[in-house]
Amino acid sequence: MIPDKTPVGGDTFHGAADLAQRAHVLSFQKYKELYLQSVQSPQEFWGKIAKEFYWKTPQTGSFLDYNFDHTKGKIYIKLMEGATTNICYNLLDRNVYDKKLGDKIAFYWEGNEPGDSMEITYKDLLQQVCKFANVLRAQGVKKGDRISIYMPMIMELVVAMLACARIGAVHSIVFAGFSSESLCERIMDSCCTFIVAADGFYRGDKLINLKLVVDEALRKCRERDFQVSKCIVVKHLGGTEETCADETSTNPQSPPAKRSCQIPWDANVDVWWHELVKGASDECEPEWCDTEDPLFILYTSGSTGKPKGVLHTIGGYLLYTATTFKYVFNYQPDDVYWCTADIGWVTGHSYVTYAPLANGATSVMFEGLPTYPDSSRFWEIIDKYKVTTFYTAPTAIRLLMKYGDGPVKRFSRQSLKILGTVGEPINPEAWHWYYKVIGNGRCPIMDTFWQTETGGHMLTPLPVAIPLKPGSATFPFFGVVPAILNESGEELEGEAEGYLVFKKPWPSIMRTVYGNQERFEDTYFKKFPGYFVTGDGCKRDKDGYYWITGRIDDMLNVSGHLLSTAEVESALIEHPAIAEAAVVSHPHPVKGECLYCFVTLRDGHEFTKTLVTELKNQVREKISPIATPDYIQNAPGLPKTRSGKIMRRILRKIARNEKDLGDISTLADESVVTELVSNRCKTT
Ligand code: WTA
Repeated sequence: MIPDKTPVGGDTFHGAADLAQRAHVLSFQKYKELYLQSVQSPQEFWGKIAKEFYWKTPQTGSFLDYNFDHTKGKIYIKLMEGATTNICYNLLDRNVYDKKLGDKIAFYWEGNEPGDSMEITYKDLLQQVCKFANVLRAQGVKKGDRISIYMPMIMELVVAMLACARIGAVHSIVFAGFSSESLCERIMDSCCTFIVAADGFYRGDKLINLKLVVDEALRKCRERDFQVSKCIVVKHLGGTEETCADETSTNPQSPPAKRSCQIPWDANVDVWWHELVKGASDECEPEWCDTEDPLFILYTSGSTGKPKGVLHTIGGYLLYTATTFKYVFNYQPDDVYWCTADIGWVTGHSYVTYAPLANGATSVMFEGLPTYPDSSRFWEIIDKYKVTTFYTAPTAIRLLMKYGDGPVKRFSRQSLKILGTVGEPINPEAWHWYYKVIGNGRCPIMDTFWQTETGGHMLTPLPVAIPLKPGSATFPFFGVVPAILNESGEELEGEAEGYLVFKKPWPSIMRTVYGNQERFEDTYFKKFPGYFVTGDGCKRDKDGYYWITGRIDDMLNVSGHLLSTAEVESALIEHPAIAEAAVVSHPHPVKGECLYCFVTLRDGHEFTKTLVTELKNQVREKISPIATPDYIQNAPGLPKTRSGKIMRRILRKIARNEKDLGDISTLADESVVTELVSNRCKTT
């Protein structure tokens, strides 16, 4: 499957020559050799890597035990049976005490406002984590308890997640852009008894009063008979004032008048972080956990609308994220690494927190936006910290590309060695700009394909060893066995296009959907027994390179964030004026994809500008600003099959102004199509 010879051709880009001397994998042949070893003898391959980490007790049973075929019984994956460890111990104590990295910088933190920055060493991070872990224990948090974390990109977020890991609690981080409804839903789904949050933060020049959103979410929980016992609040905005709930406005986005915000305070539930940690000891014995104990739950959109709590476990996640980081970014001890993702998403979990710390790396953590105070911010930060490895999303590249080369050229970016992208397919135009303008044609781009469910990189180049093709995630990482299937589930060989699946487990594969094993099996294993189904389409070219073609389920990818059409539709339908809604994806020059919504009104309602605004706000509030529709079209009728299924395929074509709508003969009423075509929204 992987070619024997290094692929060459007019369209392949090789890694920069000066990287070659320090490459972990020196050639394509070496990659292939290691790859074959990893899939033929996983125990040997991963066993060697496992030795680099600390296990309190060794593996006693088999290295890997699994079932991928639901027709043969329950789906499960078990790694390193019998081994016990603690991931926080591996990330911090081991680096401080065994590797003598105590004084090494773990993070350079760069705030939203230029000039607002701090740094933290491994030793200090360990102390802070221990303190907060002791706080959680003192509050009664026990191994296995779920803790919700809803915070901006501040150091306490890393501290909170690692403190959970230290005492065996399971963190469930919710991106701080999600609405109170989404937060409430996630808290309740995983029965979180504690929430760790912050008072507020600035996103660019916009003040976000986070605590108000938390209060609203907790109120909603109470209405649904669920009580969170404590809310631990970080005072991030210096001048925060506590007030009674009724004195504050409920608008979380008030103007940036002063660098503080008023927050409501309920002394029965709310406690300040700084007051709790004040007297806490900075020594804390880790909880020794089974390697298959849960580490975290992270929600991702599901095609039925309700988000799925993807569950990851400790040992496999540690091994796999650490290894991908080392090889994909060719990690060297003197690197300064920066992943721009928010920790609220899986990229932030794996490649801001866990993997870099597992390698003893120095990272940049950034609170702000790429365009604040201006569109040079990323490049300025790269020069400020001499970043060597820069990992971001295609949507950010496309956004910054709009400002031209000027803002980039103001900074040297000389320190850069390796670039990375993640989250969605990168279009060749953005790829070339990233390569030529940002990387000055010196830095190979690691286009990493993976998912919340996979925990770490699945298809990805390796610097130096794998020649690049713009837009292709190239080849599988060690231990990953991809296949392309046709509709009837047959594996396609050679040049082919179809469903991307994985044939064997890799260490960091999700273990279940929290509290819903049936959904786990239905979503990922039912369609093709014996395979993990990604939900993505994929092409393999004549050289064996993989090209992700995008989602083939009812999901769409807006600015690298997965959303389900069903989720947005149900938010729209909750509006009293709406009888029915159908949402499709539409291409967008910066976001990659955006939402185009068709809505059918209830009798007696009119389609007005005000209604459109109300609907957009409704989606923002129910889900998040990321899900705000770009287009809303009045649809007196929707194209449906005789059995009543909405034909989104046709709506997608109407939205894209395609003339050939394909076969519409199966529609119950063909005339609705003509009307929809004539009422189409003007799109860019
Ligand atoms: C898409 C993000 C093409 C894909 C880590 C996948 C990509 C979904 C790439 C997962 C890439 C991610 N090229 N498509 N390099 N990376 N995707 O769970 O559709 O937020 O299934 O994880 O993003 O998104 P998620």
